[in-house]
Amino acid sequence: MSEVSKGAATAHGTGWWSLAGWVLIALGFFGGGFLLILEVLLEAASYLGALYILFALVVAVGVLLHGVAFVLRRRIRDPERHESPVRVRFTLDLAKRSHIYGIVSICLTSLLVLMLLGFGSYKSYRATESVSFCGELCHDVMQPEWTTYQTSSHARVACVECHIGEGADWFVRSKIDGLRQVWAVTVDSFSRPIPTPIHNLRPARETCEECHWPQKFIGYKEMVRSYTLSDEENTQHRLRMLLKIGGEQTGFMKGSGIHYHMLIAASVQYIAMDERRQDIRWVRVTRADGSISEFNDADSPLTEEEIATAEVRNMDCMDCHNRPAHQFKAPMASVNMAIEQGAIPRSLPYVKVQAVQALSKKYETTDEALVGIANDMRSYYREEYPQFLEDGNDDLARAIESVQAIYQGSIFPTMKADWSAYPDNIGHHYSPGCFRCHNENMESESGEHIFTTCSNCHLILAQGESIDDVNVDFRTGLDFVHPEDGSTINEYQDCVDCHTGGGGVYE
Ligand code: HEC
Ligand code: HEC
Ligand code: HEC
Ligand code: HEC
Ligand code: HEC
Ligand code: HEC
Repeated sequence: MSEVSKGAATAHGTGWWSLAGWVLIALGFFGGGFLLILEVLLEAASYLGALYILFALVVAVGVLLHGVAFVLRRRIRDPERHESPVRVRFTLDLAKRSHIYGIVSICLTSLLVLMLLGFGSYKSYRATESVSFCGELCHDVMQPEWTTYQTSSHARVACVECHIGEGADWFVRSKIDGLRQVWAVTVDSFSRPIPTPIHNLRPARETCEECHWPQKFIGYKEMVRSYTLSDEENTQHRLRMLLKIGGEQTGFMKGSGIHYHMLIAASVQYIAMDERRQDIRWVRVTRADGSISEFNDADSPLTEEEIATAEVRNMDCMDCHNRPAHQFKAPMASVNMAIEQGAIPRSLPYVKVQAVQALSKKYETTDEALVGIANDMRSYYREEYPQFLEDGNDDLARAIESVQAIYQGSIFPTMKADWSAYPDNIGHHYSPGCFRCHNENMESESGEHIFTTCSNCHLILAQGESIDDVNVDFRTGLDFVHPEDGSTINEYQDCVDCHTGGGGVYE
């Protein structure tokens, strides 16, 4: 084949390259514009942001094709000067009109591409960062977390503030993980309940501490609780205590109190035997003065080898505050609260027990549960106290309604999400919490324990039917009067041996 005909064939080819470029550019702009009009017309809070990026890329490829065509054309026209395929010599000549047009059109197209890209990224960013995207798009999957979030102290804190936080690397990581999650939802391969702890949750240092700085001294925090006993009268038993949260400060309570664990003054590490970190068997503390103690399970101590190969976790905020936004309250706790607030009438005999037991039953769906709760409670009162089913007495109807509302707000059978699936690590009443480490099993080589003295963590000020009068020694507080039988508990007892948060305590 002669030199000339080869050149002609390629020149013909460059025409196609240019044409394809034009088509892509037009397609990209048309698509972007169409999307924009669609959005304005539909006023859709759309998740289509990513499409803008796609269109911008289409335009960019179009421009690229033009560039290639340009280079090829010049090589063909003047093969002498462009013997190397990569080197194209080009002298800018502003006197030439075609060169000015060229520059202007390159600038304009790049600007438009950049605008499309920017707008698209912004739209997708806003959409995927929005609370409703996280909470509502995968409605069925996220319903438990979305519902509990809305009644939490952090209901005005966006999901991403805790789950992603600041910084590009976490942003990218979360988006990659997001794609995996979308896939899992699409093919229905996700686990129920969603397993916790979340392994790629951003460390507390970089999320919680953006708003709650650890140096903040909190001191004592008053806590008032109201319990209802299991008798016919639904007797009230109240408790008023000060939690010694402490924190960092010089002088009074220096580096002490519960927030000593904020790891300002010391660091705590531990090994858990289970995924959910409920079964802790080994703990090491490094104190401010540099002294170190290691505690091992006295009944079944971990061997040197097990310790060396296990995952050792540094304790942080999340080891206590693992439910700051999604607290699945135990039936005992929510029923106590509902009776205190009058939503469940205290006048209904044995309503505490009936309500807790109705909530503790297992159901497959929420609809089934709502019917089941109503049936169970009605049939109990029909047998035992039929007067509550008569016209004009709405106590039972109100109680049923409130119990159903509690169920809908804290138990999610299709996702298998409830208080037992997601134990709260604050406290020790319905789940082991603090007693995972502060117990009598955990022992150092010299026979020391991690303390279990009640008053190191809180001071009881008043308890019983009335808690208005306080007359205590603030160094020790009162011994806890156990509502079960009025005995005092002032030594370690594993509360979860009997208390599981559900109806089990009445068996
Ligand atoms: C105040 C911080 C915070 C906010 C705000 C927050 N979360 Fe969470 N979320 C957490 C923590 C802490 C966990 C539990 C982590 C663990 O145990 O490993 C969690 C756990 C989860 C889980 C796993 C299941 C579970 O219940 O443990 C999902 C799903 C979830 N969050 C979704 C959301 C959604 C959706 C939003 C917004 C509607 C949101 N979160 C807002 C802190 C937060
Ligand atoms: C964007 C800011 C912000 C972030 C991030 C944040 N919080 Fe909060 N948090 C608040 C505000 C504001 C309040 C006070 C709410 C109120 O008083 O109703 C609060 C209240 C609290 C409380 C006291 C109320 C309660 O529910 O007991 C705790 C505990 C708490 N946050 C823990 C955490 C933890 C743990 C994290 C990290 C997982 C976190 N917060 C992340 C802003 C934030
Ligand atoms: C050893 C367990 C533990 C650790 C670790 C811990 N906290 Fe707390 N924190 C508590 C307890 C207990 C309370 C009081 C009960 C409550 O508010 O739920 C509390 C209360 C709080 C409060 C509410 C204070 C108020 O005035 O109501 C905030 C905010 C808080 N913690 C933030 C944090 C942050 C941020 C971290 C991590 C840097 C952290 N905590 C680490 C146990 C802990
Ligand atoms: C992972 C194990 C672990 C968990 C869980 C845990 N602690 Fe501790 N805690 C320790 C260790 C270890 C020490 C240090 C004991 C020592 O120095 O001898 C300690 C010390 C303390 C102190 C004493 C601080 C001081 O002034 O010296 C308080 C108060 C405390 N913990 C409260 C709590 C509360 C409240 C909870 C639950 C919300 C809790 N801890 C959960 C391991 C734990
Ligand atoms: C390691 C710290 C720690 C020790 C030791 C401790 N507690 Fe507590 N306790 C807590 C915390 C933290 C809470 C608050 C939980 C919350 O915010 O719901 C609590 C809450 C309680 C409550 C209220 C429970 C509820 O859910 O309404 C009672 C009752 C109680 N403690 C009794 C005791 C008794 C009795 C002892 C001693 C045998 C003891 N505690 C030892 C940390 C401790
Ligand atoms: C041997 C079993 C057992 C142990 C251990 C036990 N309790 Fe109880 N507790 C009961 C029973 C049973 C009731 C029910 C009394 C009623 O409702 O009439 C009860 C009732 C209560 C109540 C009031 C009911 C309510 O709504 O919660 C509180 C508060 C309480 N216990 C706290 C504790 C704490 C804190 C511990 C651990 C320090 C503890 N109990 C250990 C059996 C136990």
